[in-house]
Amino acid sequence: MNVIRFTDLCAAGKVAGQRVFIRADLNVPQDASGRITEDTRIRASVPCIRLALEAGAAVMVTSHLGRPTEGAFKPEDSLAPVAARLGELLGREVPLVSNWVDGVQVAPGQVVLLENCRLNTGEKKNDEALSRKLAALTDIYVNDAFGTAHRAEATTYGIAQYAKVASAGPLLAAEIDAITKALAHPQRPLVAIVAGSKVSTKLTILKSLSEKVDQLVVGGGIANTFMLASGLSIGKSLAEPDLLDQARAVIESMRARGAAVPIPVDVVVAKTFAADAPATIKDAADVADDDLILDIGPKTAELLAAQLREAGTIVWNGPVGVFEFDAFANGTKTLAHAIAESKAFSIAGGGDTLAAIAKYGIEDKIGYISTGGGAFLEILEGKTLPAFEILATRAAG
Ligand code: 3PG
Repeated sequence: MNVIRFTDLCAAGKVAGQRVFIRADLNVPQDASGRITEDTRIRASVPCIRLALEAGAAVMVTSHLGRPTEGAFKPEDSLAPVAARLGELLGREVPLVSNWVDGVQVAPGQVVLLENCRLNTGEKKNDEALSRKLAALTDIYVNDAFGTAHRAEATTYGIAQYAKVASAGPLLAAEIDAITKALAHPQRPLVAIVAGSKVSTKLTILKSLSEKVDQLVVGGGIANTFMLASGLSIGKSLAEPDLLDQARAVIESMRARGAAVPIPVDVVVAKTFAADAPATIKDAADVADDDLILDIGPKTAELLAAQLREAGTIVWNGPVGVFEFDAFANGTKTLAHAIAESKAFSIAGGGDTLAAIAKYGIEDKIGYISTGGGAFLEILEGKTLPAFEILATRAAG
């Protein structure tokens, strides 16, 4: 996708002395006392901010945090903890500015954090008057918020329409590049792992990927529905019987072009959903009426691991079993290590997937870890995200 890249503007010396407005995604999880429990998104936003500062810009950064009510500030909606963490990472104080829509005082070489942008009335609805005010604050708009790229809001879309210059920050650009490498020009075989509890929530992703990939590995409740569609019994496992035709259509369309949805040959079952429930390995054909499938079996895990080791590209979204319970973690663990050992370019995204990557300590062995949750899923669905669309429109015109 052709967009103006902020790194190019910096390299061309077009940023010194300019007012730069960076929309980052600093929406990080916090505990009940407001302490940040996971700061990946803040760390991922630092390179863009540093770049702007080193280029001599006057830097404004903003983000949403949670889903607050517009116009009704509550202390828990504040970016104050984020400002503190950002300050530690940048090694300088980052002042937090409230009520900033009508003007921001910041000098070249300084950085300020603008309070939660979803507190501004009109943000969520991409209000034109608000967007024009935001655009007036800046000479160069930078969208570096991949995690929010699927939202058309005033700080992700409207401001990009009206700002003098609208560009993609290095994180946004890296995400586009990694996803393009994985899906538009993949090294083959291309293997996707799509797991989760329901086919219905990932049906469009499954359909979109089924047209591109060589192997579509399904896991969790999704795999149960595909097992049912293949004529296997799944006992009392979670599944969506009303989507069997859709699952069969995916299997058939892939088979027709020589690709496949590997159906588990063995599974790990229990009688109840509990960490201490006794786990039994069974052939996929032997699942009893009162069994719950909670993981793929060791033979299936090894078959899939062998395919992953031979893959050219791997797209990973979702653990294949209840990996939070040790007795049902072997499938996810085996696939995680196979991905780590594979020479394939791998891209992973989604909260549970990142938790599995952290649990097995393979962060350094994944080609690209996306900061997007919903945004990553929408890209896998084949959608053009609003943030990219408007940046491309501005670059073209
Ligand atoms: C996310 O956490 O996925 C992003 O920050 C987007 O948040 P939202 O779903 O509230 O728009």
